Amino acid sequence: MTAQLIDGNALSAQIRADVARRTRALKERGLTPGLAVILVGEDPASQVYVRHKVKDSEESGLHSVLDRHPASLSEAALLARIAQLNADPAIHGILVQLPLPRHIDANKVIAAIAPTKDVDGFHVASAGALMVGQPGFWPCTPYGCMKMLESIGYDLRGKNAVVLGRSNIVGKPMAMMLLQKNATVTICHSATPDLRSHTLRADVIVAAVGKRNILTADMVKPGAVVIDVGMNRNDEGKLCGDVDFPGVREVAGWITPVPGGVGPMTRAMLLVNTLEAAERCLPKPQ
Ligand code: GUN
Repeated sequence: MTAQLIDGNALSAQIRADVARRTRALKERGLTPGLAVILVGEDPASQVYVRHKVKDSEESGLHSVLDRHPASLSEAALLARIAQLNADPAIHGILVQLPLPRHIDANKVIAAIAPTKDVDGFHVASAGALMVGQPGFWPCTPYGCMKMLESIGYDLRGKNAVVLGRSNIVGKPMAMMLLQKNATVTICHSATPDLRSHTLRADVIVAAVGKRNILTADMVKPGAVVIDVGMNRNDEGKLCGDVDFPGVREVAGWITPVPGGVGPMTRAMLLVNTLEAAERCLPKPQ
């Protein structure tokens, strides 16, 4: 069997078109969604990421501000800048690109972002809201993975889902989202012995470890859905995920490619969160 592809490029294009449509409607009511992206330092990968985020926003009609600072910026100055953006009515979403220079405490910085503008979903208030099923912002990568499952009409109720990786940004929120849809969820991590015994029972596997070939064909139940969050380089320097794609696609029922899978979905969900942050500012209909 060869798995069907879940095409992140095509799905994210649909989502961005919907964001553009809803943004036009908001603008007609006098409100332009605004995103501030803060970059501290010169990390080359971060520079590429923030440029994409600003470009995506503009293409969907959102207002965006790229707020660049030297690596020498003090923590106090960054906190002051965030306070300013928290109070700025033209800004609905604030994203601080990680990693930050070592002299800045990322937890303190994320905590300073107003939860109503936390479009990355990294604030403890956002994490708590997800955990208890209250409205809030969901981290973009696991949110994008849920949209991919939704796009194939996959009903998670009663299914076994295995998440590989326990990061605060992907693994843990992913598990909460799958649980909310009534899957039976297992989180595996670096101290899990015998990964294969878990993955072989899984109907859905989300690989978010950051290690090439962590999931191979012998670890996958025939017909399973495999979502690959990894972003690694192979020996030729080509982008690849955590999954041995050529092997696993012969066993899985559905699979996401890298590139063209979860990556574009993460970018699209940031736009959705920013748009929704703006929509929540509208007066409620009487
Ligand atoms: N660095 C790598 N990925 C991300 C992300 O999704 N958000 C932020 N803020 N920083 C990142």
